[in-house]
Amino acid sequence: MAKKAALGWMEWLRGWIHIIYEMLFQRIMASNLENPLPLPPVDDLTCIVTGSTSGIGREIARQLAEAGAHVVMAVRNTKAANELIQKWQNERPEGGLPLNVEVMELDLLSLDSVARFAEAWNARSAPLNVLINNAGIFSIGEPQKFSKDGYEEHMQVNHLAPALLSVLLLPSLLRGSPSRIINVNSIMHYLGFVNPEDMNVNSGKRKYTSLVGYSGSKLAQVMFSSVLHKRLPAEAGIFVLCVSPGVVQTNVARDLPKTVQAVYRLIPYFIFSPQEGSRSSLFAATDPQISEYCEWLKADEWPVCAFISQDCRPANPSEEAHSIETQYEVWEKTLEMIGVPSDAVEKLIEGEEVKCRYGAQHE
Ligand SMILES: NC(=O)c1ccc[n+]([C@@H]2O[C@H](COP(=O)([O-])OP(=O)(O)OC[C@H]3O[C@@H](n4cnc5c(N)ncnc54)[C@H](OP(=O)(O)O)[C@@H]3O)[C@@H](O)[C@H]2O)c1
Repeated sequence: MAKKAALGWMEWLRGWIHIIYEMLFQRIMASNLENPLPLPPVDDLTCIVTGSTSGIGREIARQLAEAGAHVVMAVRNTKAANELIQKWQNERPEGGLPLNVEVMELDLLSLDSVARFAEAWNARSAPLNVLINNAGIFSIGEPQKFSKDGYEEHMQVNHLAPALLSVLLLPSLLRGSPSRIINVNSIMHYLGFVNPEDMNVNSGKRKYTSLVGYSGSKLAQVMFSSVLHKRLPAEAGIFVLCVSPGVVQTNVARDLPKTVQAVYRLIPYFIFSPQEGSRSSLFAATDPQISEYCEWLKADEWPVCAFISQDCRPANPSEEAHSIETQYEVWEKTLEMIGVPSDAVEKLIEGEEVKCRYGAQHE
């Protein structure tokens, strides 16, 4: 059978219907949820949150820290993160315990930075209970750009770098087991198409737009997460999930024309606040039933990892995400691009060392 070269128009139409439906009705669908989402006890959890200086990630980090978790803000702007911690501490009620938050530098546009972050964290030999891959970009309307590692920037920031971080942190997640990897994904993955032979969309076979870059990177993340979820043995107790935060008023739209941004701000009824947008990630990170649900998906031979919707319910990723053949091709290609061997997961779970093309090992 000839290989698919793009998303079929029916899938594309279904994708848009899904996105518009969610945008119009997300508030009604989530009307049963409290805001902020009440959290179960988290004081024994250590959580890494990437991109926690802004938007959804900032809310996730703040709420986890205020509920007593040890939070690591993994950010590229460490000054902004330290200022936020100071602000949150100052807002604490008198006599309240100080927040247990720290900052570590991480730039997802550099795979060396990702590998160095993981090396530094693993060197502590401390348990990690939750990794929240939240940081992401959507450079709307901008021309195609490539990182210094040579990868299309949406693909690198939204998929490749979080994938490398997840793989390299497996030893610490194993120490913190039962533990979770939460990927802040998007319903835009419904519009995504990934050609594993052209992850950078620069072969000339498809025209690049920022929408193609963004939706493709989010679909690649669902596919990679689905294979990772299957590859991790049940005994490891590491669960992999993707979540949709909904349509949220954050800095993600910073590249939109000013007029569109103004309209965006005028429709707060439809658009979630960052606090509302943080609920699905916080739910996925802390709900006690999530482990059971993920185990059930593994046993049931379900082809995709858990996907939690903006209203904190189990949802089904796009039809394209279910293609097992493409999932495995994306998996292999991703491991090659991030510079780890194809048996990296199995080796790390067995406690063996894995060589990575990036980081101090390579310098
Ligand atoms: N907002 C929505 O409607 C929506 C919908 C679906 C999915 N999402 C997803 O939600 C996640 C959070 O986005 P948001 O809406 O909260 O956007 P945001 O306000 O723009 O926050 C994005 C965060 O990612 C960080 N980041 C960007 N590039 C980075 C890099 N190279 N290295 C490290 N950190 C980097 C940013 O840091 P700086 O401040 O230093 O730039 C910022 O802290 C993203 O994955 C996004 O795709 C958002």
